[in-house]
Amino acid sequence: MKIIVKNSKLEAAKYAARLLAEELKAKPDAVFGLATGRTMEPLYAELCAIAESENLDFSRARSFNLDEYAGLPGSDVNSYRAYMQMHLFDHVNFKETNLPDGVAPDAEAEAKRYDDAIKAAGLDVQLLGIGNNGHIGFNEPETAFDSRTRHVKLTEATIEQNQGLFPKPEDMPRYAFTMGIGTIMEAKKIILVATGSAKTGILAEAVLKPASEHVPASVLQNHADVVIVADKEAAAAIPAEYITEA
Ligand code: GLP
Repeated sequence: MKIIVKNSKLEAAKYAARLLAEELKAKPDAVFGLATGRTMEPLYAELCAIAESENLDFSRARSFNLDEYAGLPGSDVNSYRAYMQMHLFDHVNFKETNLPDGVAPDAEAEAKRYDDAIKAAGLDVQLLGIGNNGHIGFNEPETAFDSRTRHVKLTEATIEQNQGLFPKPEDMPRYAFTMGIGTIMEAKKIILVATGSAKTGILAEAVLKPASEHVPASVLQNHADVVIVADKEAAAAIPAEYITEA
């Protein structure tokens, strides 16, 4: 596991965006696993800027997002589909972009369809944020490390973390679709981005304590190619000897 620490949120976002841009240059038909959340906003802004200034061509690349709220159609402004259109997909020319269908009539069938599609495509690189409770995607604490894509109930901690993003907090869905931890771990490379002081404690737990289902992100200790990109605030509790580059 490589841990890269940058001075600011923006510097962390730029570093991670550069990793994605280089991935595309090395493999124009790469399959990207993408994430949402506040952490990713400056990262996608930077990736769009690089795409423009360096003429990045995504026309052979595909993407699969980590998760989507259940009950929201992609046309809903609070859906992750809408987030992705606004921050990335409307600005770069991906061949194909995929998210779970939040309003699929049969949730179990939708989860299986999505998991099968990811497996068939093969993720080259998976981008991750981290929830304040250590979740990755919407894999909440105590999720099995071999879990697959499925329909899940969100925890109170996650509802609290994300409901401020809804005009009316009570409108935040209580269920979601998420790639499973086992699904995520099949990506060839994983980039986790963590910024801000709300993530300091949980990032240290994920990295320093033995991997445990109590902290979903700690599973990354078992993956052969992980880069954690953090700002100084999020990395504040990680001792210097764990840091690859500062
Ligand atoms: C949501 C997403 C996660 C994301 C997390 C962090 O819960 N499902 O995939 O990592 O938020 O969000 P933020 O970057 O806003 O802290």
